[in-house]
Amino acid sequence: MSTITIKNLTKSFGNTPVLKEFNEVIQDGEFVTLLGPSGCGKTSMLRIIAGFETPTTGEIWIDDRQVSGGKTFLPPEKRDIGMVFQSYAVWPHMNVFDNVAYPLQIKHVGKEEIKTRVSRILETVHLTQYADRLPNQLSGGQQQRIALARALVAEPKVLLLDEPLSNLDAKLRESMRFEIKDITKALGITVVYVTHDQAEAMAMSDRILLINNGIVQQAGTPDEIYNHPANQFVADFLGKVDFFKGTAENDVIHITQWEADLPYPEMEHKGSIELAIRPENIRFSKSGEGIPGVMERMYYLGDVTDCRVKVGKATVRVIADGFSHKEWKEGDTVFLHVREFIVFPDDGSTQDQLRIRT
Ligand SMILES: Nc1ncnc2c1ncn2[C@@H]1O[C@H](COP(=O)(O)OP(=O)(O)O)[C@@H](O)[C@H]1O
Ligand SMILES: [Mg+2]
Repeated sequence: MSTITIKNLTKSFGNTPVLKEFNEVIQDGEFVTLLGPSGCGKTSMLRIIAGFETPTTGEIWIDDRQVSGGKTFLPPEKRDIGMVFQSYAVWPHMNVFDNVAYPLQIKHVGKEEIKTRVSRILETVHLTQYADRLPNQLSGGQQQRIALARALVAEPKVLLLDEPLSNLDAKLRESMRFEIKDITKALGITVVYVTHDQAEAMAMSDRILLINNGIVQQAGTPDEIYNHPANQFVADFLGKVDFFKGTAENDVIHITQWEADLPYPEMEHKGSIELAIRPENIRFSKSGEGIPGVMERMYYLGDVTDCRVKVGKATVRVIADGFSHKEWKEGDTVFLHVREFIVFPDDGSTQDQLRIRT
């Protein structure tokens, strides 16, 4: 188990800055995900932690040992790190056991000990019965578990995973999320996980570092990031959201395009604001209370009904439960109750370039 400290780190390729002012501490045993759109710098950060790249400025520490920065550079094989990539790169000509044993063999670990340790880790990743098989006799998910076992067999202090599930089909990807999380938690290992998939990050992480343009926009638990996004970029990247302009005064928000008001007793922000509403946070009320609108479109998706409601000059998206398609039809007058919303000042102060909360 290990703590990873990233101090004042920047990375440029030539004149192009890729990571700008990275300062983070990843705690012992923590599962932290670097989440962000393609090209935001996730893989670069992971490769710097692993020692495949050097930072342009700043330092990396693993526990109380500096591993990168200034004149210090510890090569990857001396960092006590396990890594798994998107292309799981298992050796096709070696059986499962030999694939997993390889990192121990190159370290000249004794035969008996190799047997013990490989057997133990194969059990952890549920591959014991496949030890003698060749990788191409296994499914994609099982092959990815070989890669995971191989990364874990040397008992690294830190596990780094770069989009390890991207090549798997949707169902398998979902079940592997929980497997990876369970396995790494059982081992108590520190994990840095890279993905561009927000659902994956939400399901797996103790903490998410949401990155855009090489800057951590927000660091927090999935709940903090989803419900208290630091800026519009964060709100938009996680889950579904619609933005509306408005004015906040006297305990209400007037939403310009809706031509309607929402109660806003907190008055956290005043004047011009931007309102972020998640479509699952709007309910239809039957009582006639709420903001009136006209049901324009209903898309029945089984578990939910995805609706578009005309409110004033705006079209508002509402994700209601699956039964709604029986209760309402297109053309009906409905009343909207906004259960939760997020207010941002509309003065440019929360632009996605800013780092607001850590
Ligand atoms: N070795 C390299 N040389 C030049 N540019 C690179 C190199 N590696 C990555 N980049 C650039 O750095 C940016 C971030 O890349 P990367 O860290 O791979 O992003 P992500 O993993 O978030 O998709 C991209 O614009 C990419 O083209
Ligand atoms: Mg990448």
